[in-house]
Amino acid sequence: MDSRFFLLAAPVAVVAAILWRRRPKTVEASNPGNSWMIRDLAALKDRCEAAAALSKLVEEDGAGSWPPKADHNSWPTPLLPYKDIYLELAPLLPTPRPSLDSEVNDEKRARYRSLMRRLLSERINVPQVEDILATVETGNWESFPRDAYNGFYCCIAVLRHAYRWATIPVVKVAQSETVINFPAELDAPWPYLQRNFGVDADSGNNTSNVLLNFDVNGERIYKINVGLSEVIRSSEDVFFKMFYDLEVMAFPIYYDMVRAIISFEEKDKASCVRYLRHLNAMLRELLLIFYHNLNDSRVSRSVWLSHIQGFQGWGVGKTVDGEFVKYDGLSGNHVLAFQAIDSFLGMEPYLPEENLLRYIPANQRALCLMFKKCSFRPRLEEKDTQIKDEISKIAKQLRAFRAAHRTRVIPYLEQPAPERFTMTAGKSVLQGTLSEAIRFLDDMMLRRLKETM
Ligand code: HEM
Repeated sequence: MDSRFFLLAAPVAVVAAILWRRRPKTVEASNPGNSWMIRDLAALKDRCEAAAALSKLVEEDGAGSWPPKADHNSWPTPLLPYKDIYLELAPLLPTPRPSLDSEVNDEKRARYRSLMRRLLSERINVPQVEDILATVETGNWESFPRDAYNGFYCCIAVLRHAYRWATIPVVKVAQSETVINFPAELDAPWPYLQRNFGVDADSGNNTSNVLLNFDVNGERIYKINVGLSEVIRSSEDVFFKMFYDLEVMAFPIYYDMVRAIISFEEKDKASCVRYLRHLNAMLRELLLIFYHNLNDSRVSRSVWLSHIQGFQGWGVGKTVDGEFVKYDGLSGNHVLAFQAIDSFLGMEPYLPEENLLRYIPANQRALCLMFKKCSFRPRLEEKDTQIKDEISKIAKQLRAFRAAHRTRVIPYLEQPAPERFTMTAGKSVLQGTLSEAIRFLDDMMLRRLKETM
């Protein structure tokens, strides 16, 4: 063949290969490829506690799938107005540039809240809502299937966040509140939903606000920056889709962890190595989602703090047993994938027990406990070199993620936001100057990086 062809074709091929690897990573929402794993896990329930825990998570919280399935339409009729109200009011929530005048902000928030209160009281019948949820609580899911229940959980959670902030970006007057009297229509369903999922907080969490906000077609239902610029809206879309995609990629990893555990227990070390190798390859794919998306061109630094993060915060509370409890909002630390892999490696949870109970659904906590309990790492012997190598590779990939996360997130947190006090969604208002607050957060991330062995 003509050598000039190679001179031209080779660089083109190299560039194409680089571009292909660098393409933005997104993942198909519906994931039919998982169904054989789900069937297999159900069959493995009696052989492995981790398989049983994963199967329970899929069946119950996931409505038969993982990431969890959410239906945002087929709800019992009395509940449908909730969704309409969120969507009707959504354009009134954000503003491109917040005022620095607290009176102006207060007025805007009061208008939003009173409109929401009015619509809720006109269209929602609280006793009917309670009847429906009380029926489910008896174990009768006939009129309210789990995927629809999931969609409803998301809707109430995001309505509560919308009422809590009543404007986007988050502003100082909203951050200064300590207690909020929610409308009865938003308070009444919440304890049922939280009991069902086994979480305590008044605020939502990554499952309620992010994972369940996608329908089976991968559409995100309750957006927060409706009507604002393309850069804000697409940054919002990319940011939240990343968390959903992570769980899509994580499911085969959970499956590999279960299989590796079973193989090890059954002394089939060759299979154990095979599953761990596959796990490492899948983990690389999962982390690519983060590496490809969390950058300025996909999630703009100039809009993230003001328009994307704030709504997911919380920072208010109530008196429980004579003590004031303040809840936090969402954080990447709620993501199941990292908690599960850490547990499989035998690490202690990142979150303290109190926060696990508040923000992490019970079935997700149970799965992590089982991965930790079944972690075979402490039982490895000198001769298990291949297994040890693969486990080290998992830890190495997690360390690389934690190092990258640490450097990538700081510029997002450093953006100027004169309309608010320093706050992260997951840690609420922070003390001290911006650089002191960032040092405090960075120390937490560094500590976890060092613990990852
Ligand atoms: C601009 C976006 C982000 C910022 C500013 C940010 C910031 C932070 C901060 C300050 C912490 C430590 C405090 C805490 O626990 O809440 C943290 C923890 C964490 N974040 Fe992020 N984060 C971002 C995006 C993400 C994404 C996209 C992921 C998922 C891939 C993620 C995963 C985690 C995890 C797993 C932790 C717990 C610590 C650990 O396991 O290493 N974060 N994040």
